[in-house]
Amino acid sequence: MKNYIIFGAPGCGKGTQSQKIKEHFNIHHISTGEVLRDHIARGTELGKIADSYISKGHLIPDDLMIRVLAHELKEKEDEASNGIILDGFPRTIPQAIALEKLLREYNSGIEAVIGLEVDEPLLVERMIHRGEETGRADDNIETIKERLKVYHRRTAPLKEYYEKEGKYLPINGNGSIDEIFDHIKEALAKK
Ligand code: AP5
Ligand code: MG
Repeated sequence: MKNYIIFGAPGCGKGTQSQKIKEHFNIHHISTGEVLRDHIARGTELGKIADSYISKGHLIPDDLMIRVLAHELKEKEDEASNGIILDGFPRTIPQAIALEKLLREYNSGIEAVIGLEVDEPLLVERMIHRGEETGRADDNIETIKERLKVYHRRTAPLKEYYEKEGKYLPINGNGSIDEIFDHIKEALAKK
């Protein structure tokens, strides 16, 4: 079982590159944002709680989010037997610590952290564009600004956390989708 984290700011291309990684390496994709949006669409209790945070651009509390991931890992154990690409988790240091513990229960760990590094104006442009195309609720300029602030304060420190573990692979995420995917494959091949 080979597990990867795809990491980076809102709009950096985590979901887009995860699809390619999933197909190329035949592993399972878990996007915590998608799991939450699915709950919102179905109007579940979790969805109602998640919506109150997502619409403000804030993070769902760690204890709840860790339970959501644990449930997802258990439910998708068969699909994930070859490995997982984790998109949107961990987003805080406590989540990273909890993830290690959870994966140990499956005799597994994190192989590498793929860090998509994208210039901030491009992030904003991509999310504004998607907001116009798909109507995703948190892709408006006020919420985008808050998401970026929260990212810098609470999530960006994970880069150093994984650098210290020798797992962080910096990837230039500014080019075309295929160029970026080529960089990812190269970096993983060198690992
Ligand atoms: P989440 O859904 O994870 O959102 P995010 O991190 O803000 O990231 P996005 O999904 O917006 O962007 P992405 O990096 O996936 O980029 P994408 O490929 O889509 O989380 C949403 C919310 O849920 C959070 O704010 C939080 O409230 C909550 N949440 C989730 N996980 C949590 C956790 N662990 N703890 C607490 N709370 C949590 O690309 C963006 C756009 O650009 C797309 O339109 C795409 O088509 C386009 N694009 C991609 N690559 C390129 C390219 N190379 N060139 C041109 N366009 C491109
Ligand atoms: Mg995404």
